[in-house]
Amino acid sequence: MPFPIHRPRRLRSSEAMRSLVRETRLTPSQFILPLFVCPGEGVRREISAMPGNYQLSIDEFVKECEEIHSLGIGGVILFGLPESKDEEASGAYDDNGIVQRAVRAVKSAVPKLLVMTDVCNCEYTSHGHCGKIIDGDVDNDTTLEWLAAGALSHARAGADIVAPSDMMDGRVAAIRKKLDAGGFTNVPILSYAAKFASVFYGPFREAAESAPQFGDRRSYQMDPANGREAMREIALDLEEGADMIMVKPAMPYLDLIARARDRFDVPIAAYQVSGEFSMIMAAAHNGWIDQERAMLESLTSIRRAGADFILTYFAKPAARVL
Ligand code: PBG
Repeated sequence: MPFPIHRPRRLRSSEAMRSLVRETRLTPSQFILPLFVCPGEGVRREISAMPGNYQLSIDEFVKECEEIHSLGIGGVILFGLPESKDEEASGAYDDNGIVQRAVRAVKSAVPKLLVMTDVCNCEYTSHGHCGKIIDGDVDNDTTLEWLAAGALSHARAGADIVAPSDMMDGRVAAIRKKLDAGGFTNVPILSYAAKFASVFYGPFREAAESAPQFGDRRSYQMDPANGREAMREIALDLEEGADMIMVKPAMPYLDLIARARDRFDVPIAAYQVSGEFSMIMAAAHNGWIDQERAMLESLTSIRRAGADFILTYFAKPAARVL
């Protein structure tokens, strides 16, 4: 009989004791902060459902990155709001596009800050879908060309890591081939390998102005019911040459982060998405939950499940308390 010999509470008796045996720790270097870059100058427009997050013009974005770097945060991931959108997502792969200009600006002002770019077309198409529309659906193989061109333009601008988030088949191979041919053999690919068609992206689509104008993304993003398929998506992306993989969203998919951790010996990222952030902020705003504790507990749970690093809108407030 284990009890009364075994008393697990002995190791919980003080903060010093708990800290000694703590299995999972958070450090700011494990956080990546998503940022939204928009046209103009001096623009700092708060996103209503995401308090503390802004659409930033390039000058404001550079200031933000200086602060992020000084907080010891691991890096940033960029999303762009282009001047104009069209059927061909031309702003996504324009060397003078909003993200490409922002990358050049931050890389010259804060060269040591790790800069990732989200590679996708939905912010740049007039219809809000992630690629070329043919017969009412996104055409996979034309879209691959846009994505590869986008990734190459980001690398040329100086991006440290490119992160495709579109969920087309074969995009990792297409991007790897294009980067290598362009001389960027050393730029890693972080693949949003297991990305689900999730309701929790709602606030992001306001932030990035990228909501689809018709239909939804279920013909390319994954069905939330499918865990085995997520493992298959990850395996395929690794075969195609992904250096790191991501599970997204994070908290509703902790089981898949844990399964991926068991199966794949590559760095695993998790994206605590906009809706996950907004739910905590809304509950805290109403006095229903303690914001700081909810933030730290949610981030800890994602790390405990097996994520090496977390894309999170809490990067700044979490770095400040750690
Ligand atoms: C672009 C993209 C999206 C998110 C990251 N990259 C939106 C979408 O797929 O609709 C969501 C991020 C968030 O909710 O915080 N495809």
